[in-house]
Amino acid sequence: MEKWRVFSIFIFFLYFPRVLLVQLHASEEYARQAPRPIIVNTGHHDRSESDPQQVHISLVGKDHMRVSFVTSDQQVPSTVEYGKTPGSYEASATGEHTQYTLFTYTSGKIHHVVIGPLEPRTTYHYRCGGSGPEFSLRTPTSTLPIEFVVVGDLGQTEWTASTLAHIGAMDYDVLLLPGDLSYADLLQPPRWDSFGRIVEPYASKRPWMVTHGNHDVESILSYPEAFKAYNARWLMPYQQSGSTSNLYYSFDVVGTHVIMLGSYTDFDPESDQYKWLFADLAKVDRSVTPWLIALLHTPWYNTNKAHKGSGESMRKAMEEMLYKARVDVVYAGHVHAYERFTRVYDKKEDPCGPPSPSISLYREPSFGHGRLRIVNNTHAYWSWHRNNEPDSNVGDELWLESLSSSSACMQVSNGQESPSKFVNDEL
Ligand SMILES: *[C@@H]1O[C@H](CO)[C@@H](O)[C@H](O)[C@H]1NC(C)=O
Repeated sequence: MEKWRVFSIFIFFLYFPRVLLVQLHASEEYARQAPRPIIVNTGHHDRSESDPQQVHISLVGKDHMRVSFVTSDQQVPSTVEYGKTPGSYEASATGEHTQYTLFTYTSGKIHHVVIGPLEPRTTYHYRCGGSGPEFSLRTPTSTLPIEFVVVGDLGQTEWTASTLAHIGAMDYDVLLLPGDLSYADLLQPPRWDSFGRIVEPYASKRPWMVTHGNHDVESILSYPEAFKAYNARWLMPYQQSGSTSNLYYSFDVVGTHVIMLGSYTDFDPESDQYKWLFADLAKVDRSVTPWLIALLHTPWYNTNKAHKGSGESMRKAMEEMLYKARVDVVYAGHVHAYERFTRVYDKKEDPCGPPSPSISLYREPSFGHGRLRIVNNTHAYWSWHRNNEPDSNVGDELWLESLSSSSACMQVSNGQESPSKFVNDEL
């Protein structure tokens, strides 16, 4: 079991000299916090066999939402009733269901129901499977600003509970998770259920968009079918972005194109993921989505000893594509410590930015979550919130400017090849 429930982040192509000072302070004053135990009582729940459990929602296209839930009772239909008034459901939708077996463990009936069209920034009340408790969700705004929460390596320890409480204490629109969800690790399959119950109070209210990490693979030689639980339970809108796999996809939400990459599936130039990413980036129109962000599990840059170099082969395969497309920010998980990098490409600072003695600008081993508030087409505010109870202390914060508004980075420089065929020439 992993000890540190924090995520690392690295930011491409950004340069803010003042944060070098912050780095020195932070590394001197901030010592690693001790791990906390697994939450043990989550195997129990007080809902009936037919009641929905582990309810979570995810975005599907512009104005639809997928509601996912599990029932022990096989007879419960895959339906969701919903409406804008509590207890009164003017619409309903029917979806699909799945189930899987892993050694002696058999999952409950896993339902996925797409509802919509839904109005932007509107609260809907909904009920799953025709009975049981009522939930409510809020759809994302259709105009900026929008606030993303970013948290990786979530797990289910008492630190997880603390992180979730801090996330829930402040409003947000969409949660992004760059991998490692339940840490069930093949041998403890019911931990997917307990994880689903732990996150339900949050993931049933706001869309949670996830990609996978190494702990979600769940494959060993004698059991080669990878991602069985992850794919069954955390179905993401991959078809909407032309992907053929739940392991990588992209989506748009107000002014932002979010790319979810897969660190534990093929990424070499012959792979489906590589070809999909190439085609996906070619479709990005920065006049519609000026913000372009990517998430993946295993970082391409990392100055910690842990997992050093683990993301290197994927970086070699895919970094150039992201660089040429002028991705604004890349988030990763895996290393359980916070780290922010300057604008970087191929291990060096990007020529679009001024020189710096180090590409790693801020490191701290705190537990916490990040928030990316996209304020308008050009500016976003990033903040790292430590679980420094009882207050959610801000450890690191800075303004980001979208590369789509940087004429230096978007222009074809003289004599050189265009930075990208993906770049919209009008910007
Ligand atoms: C975008 O937001 C930044 C930060 O608040 C602000 O300085 C800038 O003027 C805004 N741009 C526009 C076009 O409103």
